[in-house]
Amino acid sequence: MDTGVNQMRFDGKRVLVTGAGGGIGQAILARFRAEGAAVLGSDRRDSDLDGDLTDQTFCDSLPRLAMERLGGLDVLCNNAGIITRGKITETTDDDFARTMAINVEAPFRICRAAIPIMDAQGGGAIVNTASCWGVHPGPDHPLYVMSKAAVASLTQCLGRDHAHQGIRVNAVCPNEVNTPMIRTGFAIRGLNADAGIEELNASVPIGRVAEPEDIADVVAFLASDQARYMCGALVEVNGGKPVG
Ligand SMILES: NC(=O)c1ccc[n+]([C@@H]2O[C@H](COP(=O)([O-])OP(=O)(O)OC[C@H]3O[C@@H](n4cnc5c(N)ncnc54)[C@H](O)[C@@H]3O)[C@@H](O)[C@H]2O)c1
Repeated sequence: MDTGVNQMRFDGKRVLVTGAGGGIGQAILARFRAEGAAVLGSDRRDSDLDGDLTDQTFCDSLPRLAMERLGGLDVLCNNAGIITRGKITETTDDDFARTMAINVEAPFRICRAAIPIMDAQGGGAIVNTASCWGVHPGPDHPLYVMSKAAVASLTQCLGRDHAHQGIRVNAVCPNEVNTPMIRTGFAIRGLNADAGIEELNASVPIGRVAEPEDIADVVAFLASDQARYMCGALVEVNGGKPVG
């Protein structure tokens, strides 16, 4: 895809991305690598730094592990997440604990461990993946919505608290993106994923749901010097589609 980006904005930059094996994660890795960064992706398996984000010790140590491997840490993307569907009466204690552990506690712990590392280096950039649904609640997903609202709020707090250290913290807030996350939702309802995406395309003013690259390009922008004055921003990337 020609993004019109022809410079190497991340030459010499050291980048850590969680959820690296997922739809958006793979596109984030590709974008940073294409622009000269040294990138480590983390996921449950088959990644540079395998581990489970429900493991507190793993989260606490991940930025240090990345720093040791890369020789520093300039950019952190907290991108991993899970979607938990259903009204509150349909959710279990385990759904609650797991959603909060992966979507909220993990980014909290990873940011807490990364900020002193970035501070010691003189600055850095953190990009969290929240969701439009964390800013404008959608129906029938209270656990997912509240977890993404927490990520959005964490981003705003850290963006303000750590700007003076040269650490910029911002979030990308996608609406629907064509990744396993929404495709599995169609499968669960017994629908064909491609047909489901076609139907969703018609509901988006710009004519299609987002592809992972549409989100990765905004993540890269927020991590780059082009966004040097942005701190605590929640950037909605929605093709004009409001949360319905
Ligand atoms: N796809 C969408 O429509 C959409 C919309 C808004 C926001 N988002 C957000 O974008 C981010 C990326 O989602 P995606 O669409 O690429 O989904 P995805 O399911 O393709 O990728 C998510 C990745 O997170 C990883 N992950 C989940 N639980 C983990 C755990 N316990 N330990 C380690 N890794 C774990 C998965 O292995 C997977 O690779 C998520 O935070 C998601 O909430 C997605």
